[in-house]
Amino acid sequence: MYVVEAVDLHKSFGDVKAVNGVSFKVREGEIYGLLGPNGAGKTTTIRMLIGLLKPDKGYALIMGHNVVEEPIKVKKLIGVVPEEANPYPDLSAWDNLILVGRLYGLPDSDIRERASNLLKLLDLYGVKDRKAKNLSKGQRQKLLIAMALISNPKVLFLDEPTGGLDVFSARTIRELILKLRRGGVTIFLTTHNIEEAGALCDRVAIIRGGRIVEEGSPDELKIKVGAYTYITITFNKALEEGRLDFLEPYEYSLQSSKLSIICTKPAEVIVKVVDYAKKSGLEILDIKISPPTFEEVFMRLVKG
Ligand SMILES: Nc1ncnc2c1ncn2[C@@H]1O[C@H](COP(=O)(O)OP(=O)(O)OP(=O)(O)O)[C@@H](O)[C@H]1O
Ligand SMILES: [Mg+2]
Repeated sequence: MYVVEAVDLHKSFGDVKAVNGVSFKVREGEIYGLLGPNGAGKTTTIRMLIGLLKPDKGYALIMGHNVVEEPIKVKKLIGVVPEEANPYPDLSAWDNLILVGRLYGLPDSDIRERASNLLKLLDLYGVKDRKAKNLSKGQRQKLLIAMALISNPKVLFLDEPTGGLDVFSARTIRELILKLRRGGVTIFLTTHNIEEAGALCDRVAIIRGGRIVEEGSPDELKIKVGAYTYITITFNKALEEGRLDFLEPYEYSLQSSKLSIICTKPAEVIVKVVDYAKKSGLEILDIKISPPTFEEVFMRLVKG
């Protein structure tokens, strides 16, 4: 059984088609990422998956339960960290957790035990009595994750979990996500951070204009555009743009003495460049050949 299933989800706001036929399936224990640029439909999709927004068409299932028809069952299975959320500012970290636990109707002794464990897991135990408004942004984000986990959900939804965090806090959150997965939690997250998706996710769906344009493991996506090779050639002096007609069939860019070319047949290109260098009395100082990075893959897929 799949943990999360989206089946042909549609949602429009007026004449904006925010989500336009999105389907995917998330397996148990996976970290699944919905990756896309601003306005692609990530948050709208997540809101339909967690029952905050009713689809115009299509449906979502959490462990086989229809999100619209069985909201209570679904709420017990999921934890959510929304895109823009805040703990109660005047309550301590500890009291925020207790409050959420009570909202779920859990027995107080269970809540206290889970709250302690989560605060320790997230490295927040030392600040548990501090008011939420006095926590740092990263600490607040971790507290929100703890609040989403207090009910021991099977699947955790995170909308831009590292948005607005510094590099260090973002890494702490990513490590935490991996730790949670090891503990058996299935993770669904959205991000526009390509490297994050590449480093963290088992599978990624790339969304653009409300549609999934690609899906696969980060490596599979790389292979899809992996037919392309990136070549960077450094010469001993600046090149003249006007004399590079022979590169017309390829995608290339020139920065003074540095020429970058994207192509499918590197050997063929290098022969041409060496030939050109000879004729022009240029010396080649360095040739670098590399596979595309995840970011380059993403840019190609998003541009279509
Ligand atoms: N409540 C709403 N009313 C009107 N338009 C909306 C509403 N919610 C979203 N939209 C529009 O739907 C589209 C998708 O928005 P959504 O928030 O899902 O994008 P996103 O991928 O989460 O973007 P971001 O990376 O900026 O968070 C955008 O064009 C947005 O302006
Ligand atoms: Mg969003």
